[in-house]
Amino acid sequence: MDLLKGKVAIVTGAARGIGRMIALRFAQEGADVAFTDLSRDENMDTLEKELNDLGVKGKGYVSDASDYNQAQETVDQVIADFEKVDILVNNAGITRDTLLMRMDEEMWDLVIKVNLKSVFNFTKAAQKYMLKARTGTIINMSSVVGVNGNAGQSNYSASKAGILGFTKSIAKELGARNVRCNAIAPGFIITEMTGKLPDNVKEEWIKSIPLKRGGLPEDVANVSLFLASDLSSYMTGQTLQVCGGMSV
Ligand code: NAI
Repeated sequence: MDLLKGKVAIVTGAARGIGRMIALRFAQEGADVAFTDLSRDENMDTLEKELNDLGVKGKGYVSDASDYNQAQETVDQVIADFEKVDILVNNAGITRDTLLMRMDEEMWDLVIKVNLKSVFNFTKAAQKYMLKARTGTIINMSSVVGVNGNAGQSNYSASKAGILGFTKSIAKELGARNVRCNAIAPGFIITEMTGKLPDNVKEEWIKSIPLKRGGLPEDVANVSLFLASDLSSYMTGQTLQVCGGMSV
């Protein structure tokens, strides 16, 4: 299928997990994909190869999304290499979970910087190209925890709720120039991020999910494809919850 033929996408934090699957799903639909992660390792090399094997241009960039200057330089380099950017997926994110009584300042600052400031950094860098082109779609990876809160994740929840406010504001700022901005709020998705949770915690999560399973990176990638493509051309400022009904 060719839902994204001729489009150029940037996906942050994509060497593994949800971001990796988004990059591959976009490539299956014909998009050229620039992706970022913290280091050049086997994961980055493998994804580059998998993208190129799908017949599109795929390139990994070493870039800390939470660093303002690095984000600007990365997007400028992507423009030099790919000539444009049509789709931006702000996916990079981390957790540093603990109850507020044990949370130190460093755990708070780091999560806000990596999860929330990175979204500002990359959106700011990409928007000038999208505005000039009068087309673009931005997808921000929030979380159901950003919508509902969660004990032990006040830093993460605040960062993900912040993303929702940012998404709605950017939708209002950029809509007149045909640049859309939406958020995805995944529930419990099986990746390395959730893999480190104890088994009993995972079982409790799954019990509370109407669809009775953890989500797969593919489940989030398919919704990302919808928001990246013209199938969602009249949607902006929205949050789509991909959570197996968990937050119903
Ligand atoms: P993951 O931990 O498997 O992958 C995250 C990727 O981001 C890694 O490759 C990591 O190296 C990269 N990364 C971390 N900090 C970075 C930085 N400063 N700059 C560039 N890259 C960086 O995580 P997963 O599960 O794939 O999560 C992806 C996104 O989805 C995150 O924003 C996460 O908060 C969100 N999410 C995940 C859920 C889940 O259940 N797995 C649920 C809800 C949201």
